[in-house]
Amino acid sequence: MDNVNLLIVNGPNLNLLGKREPSIYGDQSIEEYLENMLQQYPEVNVTYFQSNSEGALIDKIHECGFDVDGIILNAGAYTHTSIALHDAIRAVPAPVVEVHISNVHARESFRHVSMISAACKGVICGFGLNSYRLAIEALINR
Ligand code: DQA
Repeated sequence: MDNVNLLIVNGPNLNLLGKREPSIYGDQSIEEYLENMLQQYPEVNVTYFQSNSEGALIDKIHECGFDVDGIILNAGAYTHTSIALHDAIRAVPAPVVEVHISNVHARESFRHVSMISAACKGVICGFGLNSYRLAIEALINR
């Protein structure tokens, strides 16, 4: 695939990456991580969006989900609660990869349930920020 357009969407509290619970989420900001990592993928154009609001995440999926080649979605805690996000993912043609930095299955039981996995193409979790790179690999090698 040449010139792939991808949207990365991060949900609540992920604006604090690098500062928030570094023992779980690491000490690097997402901006710094993406800037370095994306140098490996000159053919990939990434739009990055973060919001703490469920409705804003849904609006962004609606806005871009008919145009981009894929969406990488870390919905944060909305993963475990949001049927509205599930419906938004199903509403657009772009394949969505659910991503988590931590291994949610090795954490509290309320994180073992995902409302969005069944609507997604696949799920990557537990590889730190590298989970985002693995999602890019999954979308460009479809
Ligand atoms: C997370 C896991 C979620 O359970 C949590 O609410 C987050 C981050 C992760 O990337 O590991 O905010 O999605």
